[in-house]
Amino acid sequence: MFDFTTVHDRRRWSATKWVKYRDQEVIPLWIADMDFAVAPPIQAAVAAQVAHGNFGYMSAPHGLRQLLVEDHRRRYSWEVDPAWIVWLSGLVLGINLAVKACCAAQEKVISFSPVYPPFLKAPGLQGRGLVEVPLKRIGVVGTDYVIDFDRLEAVMSEPPDATTPAVPGDASTATRLLLLCHPHNPIGRLFTRAELDRLAAFCERHDLYVCSDEVHCDLILDEKVPHLPFARVMAERSPALLQRTITLNGQGKTYNIAGLGIAWAIIPDAGLRTRFKVAMQGLVPDACCFGFTAAQAAFAEGEPWRLALLAQLRSNRDLVSAALDRMQLPHSHPEATYLTWIDARALAEQVGNAATWFEEHGVGLSDGADFGQPGYVRLNFATPPRLLQEALARMESALARYRQAAPPITAESA
Ligand SMILES: Cc1ncc(COP(=O)(O)O)c(C=O)c1O
Repeated sequence: MFDFTTVHDRRRWSATKWVKYRDQEVIPLWIADMDFAVAPPIQAAVAAQVAHGNFGYMSAPHGLRQLLVEDHRRRYSWEVDPAWIVWLSGLVLGINLAVKACCAAQEKVISFSPVYPPFLKAPGLQGRGLVEVPLKRIGVVGTDYVIDFDRLEAVMSEPPDATTPAVPGDASTATRLLLLCHPHNPIGRLFTRAELDRLAAFCERHDLYVCSDEVHCDLILDEKVPHLPFARVMAERSPALLQRTITLNGQGKTYNIAGLGIAWAIIPDAGLRTRFKVAMQGLVPDACCFGFTAAQAAFAEGEPWRLALLAQLRSNRDLVSAALDRMQLPHSHPEATYLTWIDARALAEQVGNAATWFEEHGVGLSDGADFGQPGYVRLNFATPPRLLQEALARMESALARYRQAAPPITAESA
């Protein structure tokens, strides 16, 4: 019923994903952007606005807040007060604003790694300290992770480090904020209820704010478990804890409208919301007029397309997993997102940077080093199956040729 097989010429419109390799024979499977045309109702709504021909400043359409509220009630059993919503033109800027709104200069922010790069960069960009807490690898696969609660507790009792020089006990060295990516990019995991409860207890114990970026939450591939907003977990623990949350979300990933500049923050506490809005002043542009229109259409009419998309993504994920198994590259089998996280450390030991090596063999992947984990690569499988199969075939034959000439590459040799 919906078309997920046509290969579109995205170079013509300077798609960031494609122009990186404008003159090279490289299939781009890097940035988190899908190669599918948007849902027909979104296309129609934006087309109607284009036909209208006036692209001036635009306020949020009447009824959009209410659509968001109803959507969150239906999907996540979360009652959002319309007053809590702050429209944004992107999520990365929301991460940076959260850092500014929650932490004074030099105060610190916890991020788990590996993680989407802005979670590691935002604290430094805003003059705050970063406390990177690696997720704990479990099992032999190399791509199974859990939150390392022992390490989390340990960092809270460590003395201030060189990046945050201050007098001991000085409040300016305090850790104030946890940045959470939920579901998690790049590992593709849904944290369990038990993990989230434990994390909420940790935030309560240490009086932390939490900024939870939930942009991948409508891309739960198996839909066995509904998405559980972290703010809801906090609120269920204690209503006061809800006031320490910022939830970032948007339809950029699910409906492939990242270029339309529309997202939102949900901030229940009025004081925190004011600080967030003050940080926006004079710097953050309003959401794009087409973004508002697309958001409204996605809420109102996007669901059939999203369900069809999930079926396609599940099939693509399984295709990728089967191919990586044949290649003997340890990898995630993501519960959410359209991103597979691949442990290429053994290969990297022999060839140098694995992302560069795959690029030289015709496939553009994201380099794990940018996510805080060198030796890994991330593969975006949200692309028509024909293209995906071609990319996987290139990877497989490149590895086969390499292995004929070199010692075997296995997880154990990493
Ligand atoms: C977790 C997460 N947050 C934010 C973004 C980017 O959002 P935006 O383009 O709205 O800044 C991405 C993109 O991949 C992401 O994975």
